[in-house]
Amino acid sequence: MRVLLAGGAGYIGAHTAVSLLEAGHDVALLDNLDNTSAVVEQRIAQITGKTAPLVIGDAADDEVVERAFAEHGPFDAVIHFAAHKAVGESTQKPLDYYANNLDSTFALLRVGLAHGIRSFVFSSTGTVYSDPADLPFTEDATRDLVELSNPYSKTKLMNEVVLRDVQAVNPEVSITSLRYFNPVGAHASGLIGEDPQGTPNNLMPFVARVAVGRLERIGVFGDDYDTPDGTGQRDYIHVVDLAEGHVAALEKAQPGFTAYNLGTGTPVSVLELIASFERAIGRELPKEFLPRRPGDLAATYCDPAKAERELGWKARLTIDDMTRDVWRWQQQNPGGYEG
Ligand code: WQD
Repeated sequence: MRVLLAGGAGYIGAHTAVSLLEAGHDVALLDNLDNTSAVVEQRIAQITGKTAPLVIGDAADDEVVERAFAEHGPFDAVIHFAAHKAVGESTQKPLDYYANNLDSTFALLRVGLAHGIRSFVFSSTGTVYSDPADLPFTEDATRDLVELSNPYSKTKLMNEVVLRDVQAVNPEVSITSLRYFNPVGAHASGLIGEDPQGTPNNLMPFVARVAVGRLERIGVFGDDYDTPDGTGQRDYIHVVDLAEGHVAALEKAQPGFTAYNLGTGTPVSVLELIASFERAIGRELPKEFLPRRPGDLAATYCDPAKAERELGWKARLTIDDMTRDVWRWQQQNPGGYEG
């Protein structure tokens, strides 16, 4: 298939581009580079020996999307990664998040459907689930917009509502919403990985920067949760497993709207992740216990059985694979893509 990846130069997009190219598909990237680097295009070529041409521009602009189709189409499918994704930032900049995360979907759908794409894959999130009583989350778990704690998660749920209604009037098209849990890790080559701008909000990149000496110590947000070791549990999934999940979703797509959880189903705590990273580097890391972070859940993890049943996909890599691969990426790119 020929696939356009909107946001394709980003962390998950780049890994998905590699997996698609290695599976024999053709790929083009569309990215405004506001949270990544153009270096990614050559890194993908280094890994795969194939090119994924990059169109630089905003996926929310119909003319930019038309240019991508004109220069590198026709496309059979679009995968839409292009969104702002920081929960905390979204509470400070709600209008930016609603505008960007919805307008990009509208533009990609308008242009993609006009050009006859057969499949649209949407980057969604496990943070659309609103009731911890439903754990482990299946795809039918409660998703109550009013109960969601931040605009980012609300934009993702709103997108799913739009996608369901648009698919209903395009019955021959397949629209798949992939609900990611906590993507971490990096390609084994160490050539692509997560490169957050500024100080990372998320645990894994923060730990990696403490390990490489860019940050002083890890702050553990709360050790009084109702979990086995008192620290927050999450369903961390290796970004390469996540990328393979996108390939499976595209190759197995059927007409209709379908959602899949992409996670391991295994909760891992903050202290367990740190211990895994310490095993990867062979030394202890400085840490301190801090108060809980507002809005954090004690635990969130999924039941990944539907993706295994319907897509034949299951996450294979462990938390030790994730921390080992992050450490290699961090060591080889101490200053990220821009050095
Ligand atoms: C993980 C755990 C924290 C930082 C993120 C995104 C969200 C979604 C899923 C895309 C929690 C603890 C963290 C730190 C800590 N991604 N923590 N010290 O909050 O689950 O959600 O991934 O959809 O958009 O925000 O991930 O990595 O921030 O936190 O103790 O310095 O680590 O309390 O228990 P989170 P996270």
